[in-house]
Amino acid sequence: MNDVDRKNGHIDLALQQQDSSSDFDQVRLRHRALPEVNFQDIDLSVQFLSYKLSAPLFVSSMTGGPLRAERINRHLAEAVCELGLAMGVGSQRIAIEQGKKSGMTSTIRDAIGRCPLMANFGAVNLLTLKSISDLGYVLDPLEADAIILHLNPMQEIFQCRGDTNWKGVLDAIDAVCSWAPVPVVVKEVGFGLDRESAKRLLDAGVSVLDVAGQGGTRFDEIEQELAAGTERPEISNTAFKNWGYSTVESLRALHSDFPDSTLWASGGIRDGLDIAKSLCLGASAAGVAGTVLGSALESTDAVIARLSRLIYELKIACFGTGVSQVTQLNECQIMEEK
Ligand SMILES: Cc1cc2nc3c(=O)[nH]c(=O)nc-3n(C[C@H](O)[C@H](O)[C@H](O)COP(=O)(O)O)c2cc1C
Repeated sequence: MNDVDRKNGHIDLALQQQDSSSDFDQVRLRHRALPEVNFQDIDLSVQFLSYKLSAPLFVSSMTGGPLRAERINRHLAEAVCELGLAMGVGSQRIAIEQGKKSGMTSTIRDAIGRCPLMANFGAVNLLTLKSISDLGYVLDPLEADAIILHLNPMQEIFQCRGDTNWKGVLDAIDAVCSWAPVPVVVKEVGFGLDRESAKRLLDAGVSVLDVAGQGGTRFDEIEQELAAGTERPEISNTAFKNWGYSTVESLRALHSDFPDSTLWASGGIRDGLDIAKSLCLGASAAGVAGTVLGSALESTDAVIARLSRLIYELKIACFGTGVSQVTQLNECQIMEEK
C-alpha cells in the first residue's frame, strides 16, 4: 500500500471510529443556580499564539496525502475563516518528499484569510531531512503561523514499514526550536503526552504542548486494519487497546507539573462541554479532528454548523458555571470527586 492509499484509509477508518464514552464523563463542572451573568454578553474570545480567536477552538491536523484532502482542507479553512478560529494542516511529509502540493497549496492560506494556520511535520521524519531549514518548504506556501511536530511512535509501530527508529528525535526537535522563525508546537496523535516527554520538550524550547490524548481517533486500530494481510508480523487486536493517556489524564499531569506552560487539549473532544472541561483542566484552547471529519467531507457550511454547535455548547457551559469570560474557567469550576 502506498502512502497516499494509506492516508485515504485513515480518513475512511477514522470516520467509523468516534466513541461515545470518554474520561471527560468523569469530570463534572460545578453548577451555579445563581449565575449572575447575561448569556448574550459571555465573551469566548482568547489569545492564541499572537492572534485573538473568537473562541478557544482550533481544527487539529488532518492528513495531507490524498487529493481528497484538498477538498477537506478547503472546507475546514473556509469555515475557520468564517468563525475566526485556527487550524493546523495534516502532515506535509509527502509534499517535501515527492515535491507535490498534496492538498496543502497556498489556496488554504487564501481560504483561511488572516486566521492562524499551522504547518505539520512528523518529528521522526526530521531525521531524514537533509537540513532542518528544508522545513521552510512546509512553512512558506502556507505563510504558517506555527509549526506543529507530531509524535506518533505507537502509530508507526503498528504500521506496515512504519518508522521505528526514534533515536535522535529529541535533538532534531531541539534543532527545529533553534531554527524556526515561528513558534514550535508538539502534539501526540491520540495517545497523550507524558510528564517526562513534556519536560524534555519544554527544555528543548517547544512553545506549546498539545496533549492529543486517548478518547477519540485511535491510530493503533486504524494502522492494524490497514496492515492486515501485509508482511508485518501478526499481533493481537486487543492487547494495546488501552495504551496511552486520556486527554484528561494528560492535562491533569502536565498542568500540575508545568502550570505556566501553554497546553492545548485535543483527542476525543466531542462537544463544547468537553472544551470547557479542558480549559478547567489547564488548557488554553481545544482542538478537534475526528469529530469534524464527516462535515469536512461534506461542505464548508456543514463544518460551520458543526463548529458553531461546539461554540454554542461552550457558551452554555460558561453560563451554567456562572462565568462571563471563557478565560475565567479554571480548576475551581471542577466538582470535587465524592
Ligand atoms: C484522518 C486523520 C488524519 C490525521 N492526520 C494527522 C496528521 O497528518 N498529522 C497530525 O499531527 N495528526 C493527524 N491526525 C491526528 C489528529 O490531529 C488528532 O491528534 C487525533 O485525531 C486526536 O483527535 P480526535 O480524537 O479529535 O480525532 C489525524 C487524524 C485524523 C482523524
